[in-house]
Amino acid sequence: MRILVKNIKGLYQVEQTKRMAVCGNDMADLPCIENAFLIAQDGIITDFGRMEDLQEPNADKVYDAYNRYVLPCFADSHTHLVYAGSREIEYIDKIRGLSYEEIAERGGGIVNSALRLQQTDEQQLYEEAMQRIDSMIKHGTGAIEIKSGYGFTLEAEMKMLRVIRKIKENSPAIIKANFLGAHGIPLEYRGRQSEFVDDLVIKQMIPMVAKENLADFIDVFCDKGFFTVEETDRILFEGVKYGLKPKIHANELAKSGGIQVGVKYNALSVDHIEHTGKEEMEVLMASQTMPTILPGAAFFLNMPYAPAKDMIAYGLPVAMASDFNPGSSPSGNMQLILTFACVNYRLTPQQAINATTINSAYAMDAVEQCGSICKGKRANFFITKEIPTIEYIPYYYGENKVDKVFLNGKEQ
Ligand code: NIG
Ligand code: FE
Repeated sequence: MRILVKNIKGLYQVEQTKRMAVCGNDMADLPCIENAFLIAQDGIITDFGRMEDLQEPNADKVYDAYNRYVLPCFADSHTHLVYAGSREIEYIDKIRGLSYEEIAERGGGIVNSALRLQQTDEQQLYEEAMQRIDSMIKHGTGAIEIKSGYGFTLEAEMKMLRVIRKIKENSPAIIKANFLGAHGIPLEYRGRQSEFVDDLVIKQMIPMVAKENLADFIDVFCDKGFFTVEETDRILFEGVKYGLKPKIHANELAKSGGIQVGVKYNALSVDHIEHTGKEEMEVLMASQTMPTILPGAAFFLNMPYAPAKDMIAYGLPVAMASDFNPGSSPSGNMQLILTFACVNYRLTPQQAINATTINSAYAMDAVEQCGSICKGKRANFFITKEIPTIEYIPYYYGENKVDKVFLNGKEQ
C-alpha cells in the first residue's frame, strides 16, 4: 500500500539522517520543506521533498494537503492512562486549599486510584484506556508510554501490566510499558515502607515482571514523602539486572537527589524535575538521560515550573509529555502541552514541538521509529486543519487543530 500526501504547505521536522535528540540552541530550529510531498509505502516513510521534485505521483491513495501542514505525531513519553474511576473530588479539595501531599496523607491520591483499580476487571480497564488513547490519537499522538503503579499488590500490578500488553498488541500507536511498582505506599505498609520496597517490589514484583516480559522500563516515584534516593537506588539496581531500563519520577516536590540517582543508572529520562538547579544540570549534561518536563501536572497542581529555558540555555535537550493521570494531569492532549510549553515555560513553538516529538521519542526509546519525518521511520504523522501557521497550533488553544492522523501509513 502506497500513500502520497501532496501540496503540503509546510512539512515539518524533516531530517535526512536520523538524529537521536535535539539539544540547546538547536531546539529553536524545526526543519521544514515548503510546498512538499510525503510518500509512505507499507507503513514506512519512503520519500519526501518539494512538489517540483515529485517523480512518481501514482499511489493507492492520494491526499491533498493544500493549505495544511504535516508534522510527525507527538510522542507522549510519560502517562498513567490505565486507571479506574476519576478523582474530581480531590480536585475540589485542592481548590479549597489542600496540597497534593496532604491529599495523599489522607489516603487520597495514588492510594485512592489503587483501591479502585484493584476492584476493576481487566476488560473494563482495557476498554477505558483504549477510549482515552483513541482521543489522544485524534489529537495527534502516535507513540505512548504507559506506566503501571496503581496496583499496590502483586496481583493488581500484574493485571495493570497485562492490560498495557493488550493495548500494545491492539493499538496502532507505538506503546511502551513502564513498571512503576514504587509509585505510592499502600496503607498497610505505612511505617514499613522499606518492607514494601524489599519484600514486594524487589523480591516479588520485579522478577515476575521480567519473567512474563511485561515491561520495557522501570520507574520509581523518587521524591519527598514518597520513595527515598536509597530505596530508588535499590529498586533500579534490581530492575537493571533484569534488563529493565530506568525512566523515573524525580524532583517534583523537592531537590530530592532523584536526578542524580536516575543518571547513575543511565536512566532514559528523569521526569517532572521542577526542582532542578545548576548541580542537577551539570549531572544531566554529562549523561545520556533526557530531562523531561510535564507541564500538565505543574499547571493542574499549581506548582512551580521546571526551568526549561535555563536547561536549554545550558545546552541540554528538553522533552515534554502529558503525564496523563486521574490525579495531577487528567488530559492526554499534547496540543495543550504545546500551549503550556509556550505560555508557562516561554518556549517558542519550535522548541515546544521539538520537545514533544523527537526528544520525547528519545525519552521512550522510540526515536528509531518515530519523532520526525525521516525515511525508514514509521509513517506516523498528521495533517492539520487549514490554519495560517504552525505557531497557530499552541496559540489557538483548546481546539483540535489536527485534521487527519496516519499511523503506520493508515488514516485513523
Ligand atoms: O506523575 N508523581 C507521581 N505520579 C503521578 C501522579 C499520579 C496520581 O496522582 O495519580 C504524576 O504526577
Ligand atoms: Fe507521572
